[in-house]
Amino acid sequence: MHDQHVLITGGAGFIGSHLTERLLANGATVTVIDNLSNGREEWVPDDATLIERDLTDPNALEGVLTSDVDRVFHLAASKAVNSDRPRAQFEANTQMTYNVLETMQDVGVSELAYTSTSTVYGEAPRPTPEDYAPLEPISVYGASKLADEGLCSTYAHSHDLTVRTFRFANIVGSRLHGAVIPDFIEKLHENPDRLTILGNGRQEKSYMHIEDCLDAMLTVLERADGSLATYNLGTRTTTSVTRIADIVSEELDLAPDYEYTGGDRGWTGDVPKMRLSIEKLDALGWGPQYTSDTAVRKATRDLLAEGVAD
Ligand SMILES: NC(=O)c1ccc[n+]([C@@H]2O[C@H](COP(=O)([O-])OP(=O)(O)OC[C@H]3O[C@@H](n4cnc5c(N)ncnc54)[C@H](O)[C@@H]3O)[C@@H](O)[C@H]2O)c1
Repeated sequence: MHDQHVLITGGAGFIGSHLTERLLANGATVTVIDNLSNGREEWVPDDATLIERDLTDPNALEGVLTSDVDRVFHLAASKAVNSDRPRAQFEANTQMTYNVLETMQDVGVSELAYTSTSTVYGEAPRPTPEDYAPLEPISVYGASKLADEGLCSTYAHSHDLTVRTFRFANIVGSRLHGAVIPDFIEKLHENPDRLTILGNGRQEKSYMHIEDCLDAMLTVLERADGSLATYNLGTRTTTSVTRIADIVSEELDLAPDYEYTGGDRGWTGDVPKMRLSIEKLDALGWGPQYTSDTAVRKATRDLLAEGVAD
């Protein structure tokens, strides 16, 4: 990425801001485009250029995504799994991806990294490989990301784009928001004696630390072949929601009583069990440095260090 000019959509968000820092450190020039709906200006390093625009506008990329750009990382998305505005979410996610792909084709930029999600698999057998079928997402969010993958495939096959699609497990680390670890920290700050856990606590998913996520992405970009390649990014192990509650409580030096809302999932559209096969990533010679449990613990410490819910 050294000496490259990269454009990161959603670069003011959790993963995008970490990616921006990493690419700047690697010597890239970084432009971030974000409407700050779920990102923060202060998370974008001063060395990057932040353009505040809404990517659902077909003209949003005008003058920003130009032939000077070497590679686009398209992260901007509305990522709530149980959105109360599903139509708006579906339209926004697919419109943004369509606008990015069309503009890339118009200006002649051919390298795209797209961030998809494990939710495209729905409730598939585990560990789930990239070629698992049928893909049957159970949330509008998952459906919108699968539709985006379809658009990426179309432009890779018909318009000479090179696309790397990353299907993320749950990524965790500092700046994470709207997810179980910061939620537990906030609840325990409010009431250290009692913690309400959504579902029965036996939901079991793979958590990957942001450092591993970025290492894996950059490894794929360096080593994968072909015009269209899809990689799962996750860990080989999983962590239950009750185990996350234990880890967060331990890190806060608390021993709260747990109260479960019941049911096998936290909310409508939640996939209660998720573990991705990472054999394809392994074949590139890369493996995660953190297990799921250690990723959760490290992320809890990262969030406490940055003062979440203080
Ligand atoms: N965090 C995870 O565990 C995870 C898991 C699977 C997939 N992903 C995917 O990774 C990507 C990044 O996720 P994240 O966790 O950093 O989310 P995030 O919400 O922190 O970042 C997304 C960014 O996109 C921006 N954005 C949203 N709508 C926009 C619009 N209309 N115009 C311009 N900017 C807009 C938001 O302001 C935000 O800064 C997303 O595509 C998400 O679907 C994340």
